[in-house]
Amino acid sequence: MDRIVILDFGSQYTQLIARRIRELGVFSEILPHDVPVERVSGAKGLILSGGPRSVYGEESLRCDPKIFEMDLPILGICYGMQLLNIHFGGTVRARELGEYGRAKLLIEKVDPLFSEVTDSTVWMSHGDSVDLPGNSLQVLARSEDGLIAAVGHCERPIFGIQFHPEVSNTRHGGTITENFLALTGARQDWDAGHCVERMVEIVRQEVGKAPVISLISGGVDSAVSSCIVARALPPRQVRFLHVDNGLMRTDESRVVVSELQKLSFGEIEAVDASERFLSALEGVQDPEKKRKIIGDTFIRVLDDRLGSLERELGRPFLCQGTLYTDLIESGHGVGKSAAVIKSHHNVSSPKIDQWRREGRIIEPNREIFKDEVRKVGRELGLPKKLVGRHPFPGPGLAIRILGAVTHARLATLRMADDIFLEELRNADLYDLIWQAFAVLLPIRSVGVMGDARTYLDVIALRAVDSVDGMTAGWVSLPAELLERVSSRIVNEVPGVGRVVYDVTSKPPATIEWE
Ligand code: XMP
Repeated sequence: MDRIVILDFGSQYTQLIARRIRELGVFSEILPHDVPVERVSGAKGLILSGGPRSVYGEESLRCDPKIFEMDLPILGICYGMQLLNIHFGGTVRARELGEYGRAKLLIEKVDPLFSEVTDSTVWMSHGDSVDLPGNSLQVLARSEDGLIAAVGHCERPIFGIQFHPEVSNTRHGGTITENFLALTGARQDWDAGHCVERMVEIVRQEVGKAPVISLISGGVDSAVSSCIVARALPPRQVRFLHVDNGLMRTDESRVVVSELQKLSFGEIEAVDASERFLSALEGVQDPEKKRKIIGDTFIRVLDDRLGSLERELGRPFLCQGTLYTDLIESGHGVGKSAAVIKSHHNVSSPKIDQWRREGRIIEPNREIFKDEVRKVGRELGLPKKLVGRHPFPGPGLAIRILGAVTHARLATLRMADDIFLEELRNADLYDLIWQAFAVLLPIRSVGVMGDARTYLDVIALRAVDSVDGMTAGWVSLPAELLERVSSRIVNEVPGVGRVVYDVTSKPPATIEWE
């Protein structure tokens, strides 16, 4: 399979470059900026990402210079362009006023890189810029301010662009990326089927004949990684493990386990630890304390079971549903240049950390993004309900019950949440929304039912649109739907007397209430 390598110089957009290329059907891989040239061999093309530093600064990042001698098309973006320029003997200058935001590209030379580019709006974000182009590099385009915005090598397919084609504000950024891909000759054959083949191959190579324990959380990521090991290895080599923390939605643990079992998974062991979690949470109100208790309890339950399985099986591998995004965000996948944006949500424990050090963790999804995991899930025949499931937080309903978590309050929230989701499904809205759920508030409110005054619980409903959960907007649901949900909840869920709808976006609010 053909592949494009992206060397990461710390740009916030590096992942976006990788996604854009995959959206065009070519496999792309992000590598740290300083990998030896051998790691790039076999690639059809190379992209040097942008980055926040200055190429002359003390902390400037460089790549192996032999990379520029490889016979392969190269596209330098922003910092990558400046680096490429100084490699060829050119200069870069810091400007008092950089260029930030929308700009117009004035193309000076006809070049295949700009073929079919009819809208010249581009997105700039730079302080430094190319001053003198390097040897054999010619100016292809400038900005309206006269700054060099694109250079190309006279004899080789090497380009530098100052703007960001990966950002949607660069109107024809996709065309420019596609033009570059055409110059590399990379086949556009990256699809879910190829993805499955590659993931299966990775698992087989990494584990050989060793036993594997595959964790199933209930979400789509671990369902996909488990399906991959089930496809890659004979049944006797794999054990599937699900920990029920008692904080899932109604019947969720049972449904996940039975749905996956249907896909010839063999036996899935479901450890019912719900009582352990609930008694550890007794009387706890503070959300951070809840998270810590749930995390610690999970680690204890999991490590106990992994320890006994290890005694039984020898040196098993552990399979997790970690995605490319999790690895990049937690700084494992790429070099020091990548900013660590958030600590990832994947399960960790002393045992898992030890197994990781010993190379006994497999992550079949580690090369794919969230949207790709859904495509792979469909390719593997996972039920639609599982593949399209909204994101669900690890600590489960505990962070959607504000205040103490009890059996009774869990039952209340489950009933309200079921009604809300059922109505969204009936209205064909569930699949159009990033995430929707009910929250049980820690207050009561007065009401009147019949002739009597009531003092009952309040349920908040939340439905948001988002691309990655980092920002989100509230969804303007039809008033009739909200009315039906509200009336059903108040009538069908004992103890609830009022329903409110959350109309706050993120930021300033978060998606979860906690
Ligand atoms: P917030 O509330 O931070 O949520 O806006 C962003 C996204 O992350 C999910 N979320 C979690 N997922 N463990 C998880 O696996 C957690 O502790 C956790 N907290 C929030 C949330 O549901 C939303 O999709």
